Amino acid sequence: MKNNFPIGIFDSGIGGLTVANAVCEHLPNEEIIYFGDTAHLPYGDKSAEAVQHYSIKIADFLLERKCKLILIACNTASAAAYETVVNHVAGNVPVLNVIDPVVELVAAEKSIHKVGIIGTKGTIKSQLYDHKLKALRPDVEVVSLATALLASMIEAGFYNNSVSQAIINNYLQYPDFSDIEGMILACTHYPLIKKEVDSFYNHRIKIFDSNEAVAKKMKIVLEETNLLNDVKRNTHKFFVSDFTESFEQTTKIFFKQEIHLEHFAMWD
Ligand code: DGL
Repeated sequence: MKNNFPIGIFDSGIGGLTVANAVCEHLPNEEIIYFGDTAHLPYGDKSAEAVQHYSIKIADFLLERKCKLILIACNTASAAAYETVVNHVAGNVPVLNVIDPVVELVAAEKSIHKVGIIGTKGTIKSQLYDHKLKALRPDVEVVSLATALLASMIEAGFYNNSVSQAIINNYLQYPDFSDIEGMILACTHYPLIKKEVDSFYNHRIKIFDSNEAVAKKMKIVLEETNLLNDVKRNTHKFFVSDFTESFEQTTKIFFKQEIHLEHFAMWD
């Protein structure tokens, strides 16, 4: 039965494991096939065309492994390649991104009239969050900033310490952010610095990340399409396009259980 098939999740690397983790927590019966394109990391500095090209190839990899749904866990790829992947799979499986669920969440917060967004250069340059939010809430002012250092900083283990707080503070002192009422953490890695962003604003503003919203959205889509798994599966698989021990070590930051990364040479 198709409902017992796995869910495909992909990201530029291992940061998307934060999203996979939320999916595992909300949908404990589901089996996951994760693909991290570590050979091309970071996507944040790549052209939209390059990210679209990678995303199609990865979507094919997930479809070949019978995935019943594809989640683009990477914000940069969600911004650059969501439509491309949707067109490519041509209705065969539902495709989710990490942008729409959080935008809907923010739009529903009627007390928010000015919102800040931080993410990679690619995500911010696309202005997709701005456009999607404006479409739902034309009264909301959107201000955004590319915070290029943050993903690599977190991946190197710098979060919840004085170094990360100094860098975060430096970015958040951006004048346009001085009177925001909400902040969207538009990157796979940023849930790990949510507390630090919150303390920069003295808990005055609402901070949004996509993880929980995406997992809830996925549950709704699986229910609507009769694709919810009815038996518990514990055989998640995690593939990367380039393997190093350091990547495997770093997964501990993003995923709550210990995992083993399998190398899949997609680009050789
Ligand atoms: N996964 C990317 C994102 O969410 C961050 C890392 C990268 O630039 O590849 O935008």
